[in-house]
Amino acid sequence: MSFRLQPAAPARPNRCQLFGPASNTKLFAKMAASDADVINIDLEDSVAPSDKDVARANAIEAINSIDWGKKTLSVRINSLDTPYWYRDVVDLLEQAGERLDQIMIPKVGCAEDIYAVDALVTAIEAAKGRKKRIAFEVIIESAAGIAHVEAIAASSPRLQAMSLGAADFAASMGMQTTGIGGTQENYYMMHEGQKHWSDPWHWAQAAIVAACRTHGVLPVDGPFGDFSDDEGYIAQAKRSATLGMVGKWAIHPKQIGLANEVFTPSEGAVSEAREILAAMEQAKANGEGATVYKGRLVDIASIKQAEVIVAQAELIASS
Ligand code: COA
Ligand code: MG
Repeated sequence: MSFRLQPAAPARPNRCQLFGPASNTKLFAKMAASDADVINIDLEDSVAPSDKDVARANAIEAINSIDWGKKTLSVRINSLDTPYWYRDVVDLLEQAGERLDQIMIPKVGCAEDIYAVDALVTAIEAAKGRKKRIAFEVIIESAAGIAHVEAIAASSPRLQAMSLGAADFAASMGMQTTGIGGTQENYYMMHEGQKHWSDPWHWAQAAIVAACRTHGVLPVDGPFGDFSDDEGYIAQAKRSATLGMVGKWAIHPKQIGLANEVFTPSEGAVSEAREILAAMEQAKANGEGATVYKGRLVDIASIKQAEVIVAQAELIASS
C-alpha cells in the first residue's frame, strides 16, 4: 500500500437503486414501500421534454409528503447539456425539505461538470440555511466520462456513488448494440468450433471500481433493460459484485429482490470469511504470515478480502 491509505466508501447500504419517472406519481408510494436501499426519482430520460416542469414539481411534492423510511433518497437531474438542469437544482434545493439526501448527475464528462453543480448547490444551501449537506452520485455513460473517470471520482467531497449507465455508454462509444447491459450476441470468441460469450462491460466496470476505490466512492452497476430476463440480470449482477461493485439499479420492482440477493453476502460466504480470519489469527499466534485453509493458501491479503465480506454483511445487518 502507498503511504496514502485507501479511503473508506460511505458506510450505507446500496445494494439496489430503484428508479421511477417523476412524471408517474402513482409509483412513488410503491417505491417508498419497496425493499430498495436507494430511491432514484427521475427527472431525466424517462421524462418527456413536455413533462419536465410537472415532473420536477411532482418530485418535490413526493420528497416532502411521502414517508421514505431509512432509504437514501436521490433525484436524478437533467444533464448539463440541457436547458433543464439548473432549474432542477434550484427548485430541489429551495423547495424540497431536508429529507432529500442526494442528487444524481447523469452523463458526467469531466470533473468540472461536478464543480459547476457543486458551486450552485453550495450557494443555495448557504442562502437557504439548509442543514444537511446534499450528497452527489454520478453516472459514467459516455466516452468522455470513462476517459476522465479518475478525475471525476476525485471531483468533490460530496460524491458518494458512481454508476455505469450501459445504454448511453454504448451509444457514446459507438458500440453496435441496442441492449441495455448484459450479454451481447456479437461479443464472442471461438474455441474448437464453439462460441464463448465474453463481457463487453468488463473494462468500463473495472475502471469505475478502481477510480471509486481510490477515492472512497461506492461503485454501482446501472440498469438492465430486459426485466423479463431474471437469469440475465443475476448473471450481470454477479459479475459486477465479483469485480467489486456494491449494487445495481432496478428499473422494475421484480429486479429489487434479485439485486438484494446478489449483493448481500451469503451466510456461507460470511462464515467462510470468519473462518479465514480465525485461521489467520491462529497463524499469527504461531508466528506465521500464511497458512492453509481447506487446502488453499491464505495469507495477510486474505485477511483483507475476508474483512470486506464481513464488513458488508455487518453493514447490511445493522441497517
Ligand atoms: N417502481 C415501483 N413500482 C413499479 C415500478 C417502479 N419503477 N415500475 C412498475 N411498478 C409497479 C406497477 O405500478 C405495477 O403495480 P400494480 O401491481 O400495483 O399495478 C407493478 O409494479 C407491475 O408493473 P408492470 O405492469 O409489470 O410494469 P409497467 O408496465 O407498469 O411499467 C415500466 C413498466 C418499465 C414503464 C416501469 O417499470 C418504469 O417506469 N420503470 C422505471 C423506468 C425508469 O425510471 N427509467 C430510468 C432509469 S434507466
Ligand atoms: Mg442514461
